[in-house]
Amino acid sequence: MRLRVLGSSAGGGFPQWNCNCGNCDGLRRGSLAARPRTQSSVAITANDRDWLLVNASPEVLQQIRETPGLQPARQIRDSGIAAVLLIDAQIDHCTGLLMLRERSAPLPLYATAEVLGDIGTGFPLTRLLGHYCGLETRPIALDGQPLAIPFLEPLQLQALPIASQPPPYSPFRGQARPGDNIALLLHNPLSGKRLFYAPGLGRIDDNTRALMTQADVVLIDGTFWSEDEMIRLGLSSKPAAEMGHLPQSGPGGMIELLDSLSATTVKWLIHINNTNPILREDSPERAVLDRHGIQVAHDGLEIEL
Ligand code: MLT
Ligand code: MN
Ligand code: ZN
Repeated sequence: MRLRVLGSSAGGGFPQWNCNCGNCDGLRRGSLAARPRTQSSVAITANDRDWLLVNASPEVLQQIRETPGLQPARQIRDSGIAAVLLIDAQIDHCTGLLMLRERSAPLPLYATAEVLGDIGTGFPLTRLLGHYCGLETRPIALDGQPLAIPFLEPLQLQALPIASQPPPYSPFRGQARPGDNIALLLHNPLSGKRLFYAPGLGRIDDNTRALMTQADVVLIDGTFWSEDEMIRLGLSSKPAAEMGHLPQSGPGGMIELLDSLSATTVKWLIHINNTNPILREDSPERAVLDRHGIQVAHDGLEIEL
């Protein structure tokens, strides 16, 4: 089984079109030891032919162009993307569905009832796409049972509800329900390995921790370095917690959480916001991650499981 990171940035990408923070401005000027990054998405395959797109970012077309395996060219119209799964209904995770509208058959879409609710109303993607290829929705039940995705067999996928936030346009923003955000635990029974994926994680509960500790690889929310990062830069009035993201630094932060996992766990941060100092490869914050054995995912990264 192979997971490919198509986009490792949080909403806005890196650099963000209208942002002149030190990171975005420095990257544009070429004065920063950092790579550009597109918005949050990964793709998973078990047979190197059929892919599950996990989140469809606004840059999905660019991401497909940069990933030849996603365009196998077997017929006049073709795609390696066999289905899409949404882990939440955030703009950076579902807008790319609109870009896939030229499909000749309805697009299979796995998502929880809560996410399907938001993209059926506040951001009416289901209705819009009904005028193009249409969506064939496959609700994800949060009953602890593995999801049956035939083209990924024998890979097992389990979805679990996690504490974060639905998107700002959702009527449930600020009152998150189980199912607004999920994490995925992938298990390859052939290698015996497990990978935990959660690009939006606000708080750790016992269930989340229990599943994380089973994982050989974690690919987890790296949005912010500090709780008040956006506030200090004058870019937002909201702390990280209000946006549904656990920052890396500080007591109870992501570094502390990752430190509590086994030393053999491979630890990757993903969904990095453009304001985060860890994007600069020579920053002191990046050196702190190095010392804790935590790596920063980049576009094009492949993880074999
Ligand atoms: C988030 O996860 O908070 C987002 O990146 C927000 C967005 O897409 O605008
Ligand atoms: Mn996001
Ligand atoms: Zn910026």
